[in-house]
Amino acid sequence: MEGKLNGKVAIVTGASGGIGKCIVRELLSEGCTVVGFNYVQDIEPTGYTEYIVDITNREQVQKSVKEVVDRFGRIDILINNAGITKDNLVYRMSYEDWDSVIATNLTGAFNMVKTCIREIVKAEGVIINLSSIVGLEGNIGQANYSASKAGLVGLTKSLAKEFGRKNVRVNAIAPGFIETPMTEKLSEEMKKATVERIALRRFGKPEEVAKLVKYLVVDGTYITGQVIIIDGGLGV
Ligand SMILES: NC(=O)c1ccc[n+]([C@@H]2O[C@H](COP(=O)([O-])OP(=O)(O)OC[C@H]3O[C@@H](n4cnc5c(N)ncnc54)[C@H](O)[C@@H]3O)[C@@H](O)[C@H]2O)c1
Repeated sequence: MEGKLNGKVAIVTGASGGIGKCIVRELLSEGCTVVGFNYVQDIEPTGYTEYIVDITNREQVQKSVKEVVDRFGRIDILINNAGITKDNLVYRMSYEDWDSVIATNLTGAFNMVKTCIREIVKAEGVIINLSSIVGLEGNIGQANYSASKAGLVGLTKSLAKEFGRKNVRVNAIAPGFIETPMTEKLSEEMKKATVERIALRRFGKPEEVAKLVKYLVVDGTYITGQVIIIDGGLGV
């Protein structure tokens, strides 16, 4: 298939999730070879190569990235999309819930970057980190999640500065509320109250986030070190 990403190889973490699946679809539509690093096996892995990897486990990450390079020869694109929430008010938040959210969302992304960066530099590639509007503004009950997502902003900007001269672009995307398994957990009451704070009066669709990812990968050739908000006008 003719596409703008023919011959390119991408790794997407959390490829089986709500947003991950749509990112995979967008990259595939441009002829990219896509590898998904999934925590648990995808029940319907459509068109991509799946590796079972816990991104918090450095040995697993290193082994799997090596296998990808041996098999496909290169890594051009890294999408750090895997993420978890373990919400609670700080009074009730356990140390375990703090540690595991930081370990997955922030350290997991760093583990991927650290392991893939030499290949990405060789390929003059692209990194995109899935942050969140909550990482910029904070949120009640999400101290761990918002700290991890704010950490990704710092990671993004530092990487952009460190690797810009090698023609590697690094950006973050900060979605608001998107219809995925992650937000399905919210109570109906909470969803209703949230929608009223969104100018467009609806949650976003994972496809809308994935199209932004594709734009940044394919066309955003002079964009780096940025955090692009996609939230339907939350609180404007
Ligand atoms: N849905 C939203 O409203 C929203 C808003 C802002 C940011 N985000 C961010 O977007 C990204 C995708 O979110 P989503 O809504 O699609 O979530 P999701 O829960 O549907 O998918 C998350 C994926 O990450 C994977 N994952 C979790 N821990 C992992 C680990 N240790 N190793 C490998 N994979 C792991 C899960 O298996 C799953 O496939 C996340 O980083 C999330 O924080 C989502």
